[in-house]
Order: sequence, then structure tokens, then C-alpha cells
Amino acid sequence: MILILMFVFWCVCNARGFEKETYNIGGIFSDETQKLAFQIATYRANNKYPLSEFKLVPITFQISPFDTLQMYKVTCDLLQMGIVGLFGPSSTYSSPYIQSVCDAKEIPHIEMHVDFHIKRNDTLVNIHPHPQVLSRLYKDLIRTYDWKRAIVLYEDEDSLMSVGPLLEYHNQIGRKIILKQLETTDTGNYRSLLTEVKSLGETNFVLACSIDSLEDILKQLQQIGMMTETYSYIITNLDTQTVDLTPFQYAGTNITAIRMLNPELTEVMEIADNLQRLRKETSSNVPILLQAWRTKLETALIFDAVELFYDTLYNLTVGKKKVIAAVPVECAGDSTWNEGYSIINLMKSKIVDGLSGNVQFDVEGLRTNFMVDILELSLGGLMKIGEWNSTMRSFKFQRPQKPQKIKEHNVFNTTFTVLISINPPYQMLTETTAQLVGNDRYEGFGIDVIQELSKLLGFNYTFVEQEDGSYGVLNKTTGIWDGMMGEIIAGRADLAITDLTITSERESAVDFSEPFMNLGISILYRKPEPVPPSLFMFVSPFSFTVWLLLGVSYLIVSIAIFIMGRLSPSEWQNPYPCVEEPQYLINQFSFRNSFWFILGALMQQGSELAPISISTRTVSGFWWFFVLTMVSSYTANLAAFLTVTTLVTPFNDIDELAEQKEIKFGAKNKGATANYFRDSNLTKYKKIWSYMVHNPDLMLDDNEAGVKKVETENYAFLMESTTIEYVTERHCALAQVGGLLDDKGYGIAMKKFSPYRNEISTAILQLQEKGVLTERKIKWWKEKRGGGKCSAKKENSEATALDLQNVGGVFLVLFVGSILGVLGSLAEFSCYIYRRSKKEKISFKEEFQKEMRFIINFKQNVKEVNTLPNESSSDKNLLDVTKYNY
Ligand SMILES: *[C@@H]1O[C@H](CO)[C@@H](O)[C@H](O)[C@H]1NC(C)=O
Ligand SMILES: *[C@@H]1O[C@H](CO)[C@@H](O)[C@H](O)[C@H]1NC(C)=O
Ligand SMILES: *[C@@H]1O[C@H](CO)[C@@H](O)[C@H](O)[C@H]1NC(C)=O
Ligand SMILES: *[C@@H]1O[C@H](CO)[C@@H](O)[C@H](O)[C@H]1NC(C)=O
Ligand SMILES: *[C@@H]1O[C@H](CO)[C@@H](O)[C@H](O)[C@H]1NC(C)=O
Ligand SMILES: *[C@@H]1O[C@H](CO)[C@@H](O)[C@H](O)[C@H]1NC(C)=O
Ligand SMILES: *[C@@H]1O[C@H](CO)[C@@H](O)[C@H](O)[C@H]1NC(C)=O
Ligand SMILES: *[C@@H]1O[C@H](CO)[C@@H](O)[C@H](O)[C@H]1NC(C)=O
Repeated sequence: MILILMFVFWCVCNARGFEKETYNIGGIFSDETQKLAFQIATYRANNKYPLSEFKLVPITFQISPFDTLQMYKVTCDLLQMGIVGLFGPSSTYSSPYIQSVCDAKEIPHIEMHVDFHIKRNDTLVNIHPHPQVLSRLYKDLIRTYDWKRAIVLYEDEDSLMSVGPLLEYHNQIGRKIILKQLETTDTGNYRSLLTEVKSLGETNFVLACSIDSLEDILKQLQQIGMMTETYSYIITNLDTQTVDLTPFQYAGTNITAIRMLNPELTEVMEIADNLQRLRKETSSNVPILLQAWRTKLETALIFDAVELFYDTLYNLTVGKKKVIAAVPVECAGDSTWNEGYSIINLMKSKIVDGLSGNVQFDVEGLRTNFMVDILELSLGGLMKIGEWNSTMRSFKFQRPQKPQKIKEHNVFNTTFTVLISINPPYQMLTETTAQLVGNDRYEGFGIDVIQELSKLLGFNYTFVEQEDGSYGVLNKTTGIWDGMMGEIIAGRADLAITDLTITSERESAVDFSEPFMNLGISILYRKPEPVPPSLFMFVSPFSFTVWLLLGVSYLIVSIAIFIMGRLSPSEWQNPYPCVEEPQYLINQFSFRNSFWFILGALMQQGSELAPISISTRTVSGFWWFFVLTMVSSYTANLAAFLTVTTLVTPFNDIDELAEQKEIKFGAKNKGATANYFRDSNLTKYKKIWSYMVHNPDLMLDDNEAGVKKVETENYAFLMESTTIEYVTERHCALAQVGGLLDDKGYGIAMKKFSPYRNEISTAILQLQEKGVLTERKIKWWKEKRGGGKCSAKKENSEATALDLQNVGGVFLVLFVGSILGVLGSLAEFSCYIYRRSKKEKISFKEEFQKEMRFIINFKQNVKEVNTLPNESSSDKNLLDVTKYNY
């Protein structure tokens, strides 16, 4: 037992001899960032002086700002451990309780938050400027801006403390200052008050509110229409720069803000980086982005406070001037720590240069002799326009000379790393046998765009290829992008160009230029095929109804001619004009002749019949006129029908494609096109998506497979219109069907808040207006790498000779007609033979042979009239009549 004790003693002695002395400092915070900041601050301070003989050990607690009891307990625990200083808590509510403990025990207490108490306790050092000191700044601003009238909007009593002193100006040299409390309803709605304020007609405002409600208030001011050029605001919160004011910077509202922390300092950036990293390591939940400009003043003051404290201890202990020993102090007892006051007094007299500028205290322990930056909201965000020296209460304004102009020259002479992915025709490897290096290795549309931009803007560039070609997906659990997006976000590349679609998800992580190409989803399918001409194409010039009416007209007119012929006396003609007084008259318009006459006219052939009476001539005239018109129309239309080949597509747009069952369709698996249907709320697209989900075999892995499938199968492929254009220039059997389903663009990606964005966007618009982009597109789509293959073919579609297919039907009609005629003549002949055989009382066969013998004797052209017994008795005249009347 004694041995162990001795060992421990020896150890402690040794440690004292070799290692630095350690002092515990307590930290009570209510949020994790501050706790981490305190630890980093201690680490920084410990490493500041290599020769120092001690180091600080932070003991931190994270406690809700309203849990005073817990805080009290923790404070007592800390005191019992023996601490040399206590930092925090950052709460106006519970800090006084802790303060009273520290005061009683004479422990240095350092605060970083706004403290409104005018009289400070002796053991307290508050490193935050007192609101009353700051109120002088607002007064000075109002005086410098020469505001005669202003409305001061304050949120609560705390903010009233800082702006209340402005009332002193009321009625001074004709000034009028009105104080109004921003009363909120339960839902954080200030609109009724703001509307009332607006009706007062004032245009100058001082806005004092907490940082959490600032954005809300500004938004509501904007909604009410108080964010216009006529209004001016002074925002008193020192953390205003941590709020994203981009939505308000375009309206031209004159917004003045103040800050003590310059986020552009490298130290601040480093600290923000460290905080961000530590936060990620300690907490597994969603990472918060903690950029330098988001760093709150209070966090920065923790660093200043620790540094001040360390420096003080260092000055006290250096060269063993004084030996400070931490002693445990009981909360309940009377004991105090007698070194406390010497630390505090030295602290209050020290001057250090911290993140928030000059840290110095006056006799009352209030921060003094510090600088406040005056900011103004402009198109480039909050810009520093001046400074205010709290000692002299003097402004030094120094507006940046046309900040926009300075930015314009950013791009000039800089060298960008441009990330690309190999993807024809945007970026391709140059086809050549020569060994190429550098940028020459690549060619394509995207390469040309960058080249044109560099010519226009004067920048230099180096292409870097994304090895895996991945554009980048967001890992929803970690919030980290991979692929090209990840490279841009990490800053390993300045620009990324490829067929990268601008989406809201991507836009939230990077900035995009104006789109250099616009496109949409469309359908790739085989080219429409000409319909094979039908055999009876010659009927197509007239519709069925016209053909029917033509037939009916033919019948009616024929019958009309027949009836009129019988009615009109002049049609009854003397058959033998030489006989002056004929015994009978005959009529040429017999039933058969009427039809023959009208048919002859219809065929434009005429017959030897000629109408004589007025009525028949009238009808004939009109019939001929009718025929003339009909035949001309027929001829004209027929020509058109024979030469024009009609094209048919089985569907004309996506709706028709979705309706039918025969043609299968799909898209690239997991591509943007498929996602478009997945995310769409339209019923018809939802239907298409469910079709795609149920037919995974129709979802292909890449576009090439899709093109192949369209060529070989009855399949339609949904893809982006630019790719379709590229494919149809090279696969002549394919075409785009229907219009674009959506509207999107490809943009150049760059880091968020990139200063080059405006310039590059403007340059892209210029290239578009000058037609350079169109020209480049034609080059890569239609000229290079097998483009333009299909346009050459189109030439020979002029007048082509008519094929048998076109006129076959006419031949068929002729053939059938001739056969019918031959059959008719055979029937006539048989009938004649039959009758003669009956009359001559010989067999049909004999008579047939007799007649055939005569017919086959081709030399003989004169036929005897071998009258039948009956016939011979009849009158020769009658025979003539029968000839007409048969
Ligand atoms: C210290 O603060 C406490 C509470 O805030 C107060 O009661 C006390 O009077 C103060 N002491 C001095 C010396 O100001
Ligand atoms: C904003 O208003 C102040 C005074 O009202 C004026 O001095 C300042 O020039 C204004 N700023 C701009 C950008 O108009
Ligand atoms: C405190 O230490 C700093 C740094 O070594 C030194 O510059 C300064 O003079 C010291 N002040 C006092 C009062 O000893
Ligand atoms: C404020 O102005 C005074 C007088 O010019 C100067 O001594 C002091 O250093 C200035 N304060 C700061 C923080 O620069
Ligand atoms: C551009 O850069 C080159 C080389 O770095 C330099 O010589 C030239 O002066 C620069 N030009 C401008 C206008 O900055
Ligand atoms: C651009 O970069 C290339 C290669 O680094 C260099 O040869 C060229 O001079 C640069 N041009 C300009 C204008 O800086
Ligand atoms: C996201 O990242 C985590 C951690 O790296 C990994 O386990 C997970 O598989 C990733 N999720 C996706 C969808 O890639
Ligand atoms: C689509 O519907 C979902 C769920 O009903 C909704 O959250 C989403 O906002 C809708 N999207 C659009 C573009 O209307």
C-alpha cells in the first residue's frame, strides 16, 4: 500500500517536472458549435507560446439555456474541481445566477453574449460590446445619413435597450424618431403591424431584432412591398451577414448592416473549416454547412476570450513572477479563491488583437476602442463600405469602386480546370494517328463551346477527364455528391461541361451557367414508310359517294334522254328521207341507244347519234358540261394520287404511343428521361411509368442498345431530342416522332456562388445570338463523324416513273372488259346458231359447223342473207325497224 502511494507520488512529481502545468477552465454552452469552438480555441491558445509553462484544459458542458438549476449544479461541480476561469453561458436569462456564484467565490467569469446590465459585477468580463456603446453607432449613422424622420422597429425589450437611446434624437434639430414594437401573432406574422407602419409613409427604418427572426421580417417586408428603392433600412444585428440576403439584393433597397467579424480573414475561414470537420466527426446526423460567413460573432468572441485569458495567465506566470494554483472551492462554504481578482484586473487592462479586432476594456469593464464595419447590400451581396471607430465615433467611408466592374475582369487571364466526360458528340477523343497531348486530345461540341468562351473572355483552360464518366449522384444519407458534381463542389475543377442537365437538385449544390443547349424528351422510332399503292388506285380520286352519284346520274340522264326522245316530236324521223310521205317514223333514242349515247359522252368518245330536239340537246349539253368538269377533276386528282406517296406512322405522339399495344416502348434505365415519368404528376405519364415498371426488359442500359432495338424490333425509345437528332443523322431508317415533352437545358456547372457565373452566362448568350452555337451544332451533328449520311438520300424523291403497281388496276379493268366482250360475242353467236338451227330444223352442231366454216374463211367478207322461212315473208322495211328497236 505504502509502495503504491509512493509510486503515485513519484509519478506526480515527475509529471510536474517534465510536463507543463495544467489549469482547468470551465465552459458552459447551450449549443454544440460553441462547445467545439471553445475546445478549438483552447487548443489554439495552448500552442501560441512555445515557451509557456502551462496549458489550459477545457471542461465543457452543454446545458439548455433555461435550465438554471442544472447550470448551478454544474458550476458548483466545476468550482470543486478547481478552475481558474469560467466561460459562458450564452444566455441572458441564466447568466446572472452563475455570475453571482462566481462573484461570491471570486472566480473570473467571462461572458461572450450581449449583456444589458449597465453595472457590471467585479469578477465579470464581457467581451461583447455593450448595447449602449453600439447605440452610439446607430445615432452616428442616422446623423451621417441625415435622416430627418425614421421609424425604429424593435422586437423585444433586449433590442429596445440597444435602440432606445435613439429617442434622444427625437425633436432634436427637427428630427422625428418613432419607436414601434414588432408585435407578432402566434404564427410569427408581423404583417398587420408592418402594414400599419407602411401607411405612415415613412421610408427610413432602423430594425432591431434577433438574428433568427430577421429573415422572416425581411421576407414579410418584401411581401408588403416595403423592399423597394424608396426604402432604407439600418439593421442593428451584428450577425446580419450570416443571413442569406440574396433574395433582397435586386430590388435596390438601401440596406445598411454592421459587423465586427470579417469572414474573409484567413483565421476565420480556418476556424470555420475546423468547426465543420469536428462537427462531422462528433455528430452523425445531417451535416450543417458552416462556412466562414455563417460564423456568428459570439463564436468568434469565444476565441478572443480564451486568447485574452491565456495571455493574461501568461503575463502573470511568465518567469515565475507569481505562482498561481487552482484550489477547489465549495459552493456552500465561505471559502473564496484569492487569485481571482489579480487575473481579472490584469485581464481588464490588457489589449489583444482578436478575431473581432482590438480587444480592450475601459474602467467600467466595457469593451472599448473597437471597430465596426459598415456594410451595404448591393448586387454582389453585402459589401463593406466603411468603418466606425468606437473611440472617435468617426466614420471612414470607402465605397468599393464599381464592384461589378472589378468582377468582370476575374475571368481574364485565369486558367480554368475544365472537367469533361467522354460522350459523343459533346466530348470525344480526337481521331488521329499522331500522339497528342493536352487539350488537343479532345474534340467535340462541348470542347468547342469552351474554346469559343475562352476566345470571348480571354481565359485559359485545361481539360481534365472524369475517369468513370459519372455525372454525380447525391447520397441522400450523407448529403455528399460524387462524380463530376463532387469534383466541382470540392473545388478540384472550376467548370464542368458535358450533357449535364440543369435540375433543381443539382442547382442547389452547384451553380449553372445559362443553358448552352435546349432540349426535351422525345420519341425515337423508325421512319414512316410509304403505303404500297393499291391495285385500284384509279378509283381513289373520287370518293365512293361520288362514284355512286356518278352512276346514278348516268342512269337518270339516260332514262331522261329516252323519255324526252319519245316525247319530243322532232325526234321522230322519217327513216327514208327520199320518201316524202313516210308510212312510219322512227326514233333514234331507243332505250339501248339512250344509254349508249350518254355513255359515249361520259367517256368523251361520242356516238354517231345526234340529238335533234331542243330538249334532248339541252340535256346533252348539260351532260357534256358535267362530264367535262368531272373528267378534268378526275384527271387532275389522279395525277396527284399517282405521284404522291402517302406516309403513315402508327402513332404521332406520346399519347397515341401509350394508347396502342402493338409497339413496345421504353427508355434508359434510371436515366433522367425515366425519372421524368417517375416524378410526373400527370395521369398519362403515370400510366407510362407504370408500363415501364412492369416491363423491365424494355428498359435498356444505354442509348446505343435503345437505338439498336428500335432498328431491329417494333420498338420506340424515349430519349433526349439532341441525342435523337444525332442518331437520326447517322441511322437513316430512324426518325423523331412527335414534339418535345418537356423543356430543359444543358449548362456549364461551377462552384456555388462562383464569381465567373455572370460572365460565362453572358458570353453564352452572346454566342447564341451570333449563331456560333448553332453553327457548331451543325458541325458536330451533321458534318463530322458520319453525320449528314441521311440528308443526301432525300434528293431522288422527285418525279418517278409510274410503276405497274400504280396503274395495274386499269390494265385489269381492260382485261376483264375484253373477256366480258368476247364472252358476250360468244353468247350472241351461240344464241344465233341455236335459233337458226331451230328454224332450219338441223342440229345445232351442223349449223355451228356451217357458220364456223364461213367465219374461219377469212377471205370471205360477204355474207349471203339466208332468210328463214318466216323471215322471208316479212317486210324488208320492218327488218330495218327491228334493227333500231331491238
Ligand atoms: C453582482 O451581481 C449580482 C447579481 O447580478 C448583484 O446582486 C450584485 O450586487 C453584484 N455585485 C456587484 C459588486 O456589483
Ligand atoms: C443609402 O442611403 C444613404 C443615406 O440615406 C446614402 O448615403 C447612401 O448613398 C445610399 N446608398 C445607396 C447605394 O444608394
Ligand atoms: C504580456 O506578454 C506579452 C507577450 O509576451 C508581452 O508583449 C507584454 O509586454 C506582456 N505584458 C505585461 C504587462 O507583462
Ligand atoms: C480609433 O481612432 C483612434 C484615433 O485615431 C486610434 O488611436 C485608434 O487606434 C482607433 N481604433 C481602432 C480600433 O483602430
Ligand atoms: C496575363 O498573364 C500573363 C502571364 O501570366 C501576364 O504576362 C500578363 O501581363 C497578364 N495580362 C493581364 C492583362 O493581366
Ligand atoms: C494558356 O495555357 C497554355 C498552356 O498552359 C500556354 O501555353 C498559353 O500561353 C496560355 N495562354 C495564356 C493567354 O495564358
Ligand atoms: C451513402 O453513403 C453511405 C456512407 O458512405 C453508404 O453506406 C451508402 O451506401 C451510400 N448510399 C448510396 C445510395 O450510395
Ligand atoms: C406531385 O404530387 C406530389 C404528391 O402528391 C406533390 O408532393 C408534388 O408537389 C407534386 N408535384 C407537382 C409538380 O405538382
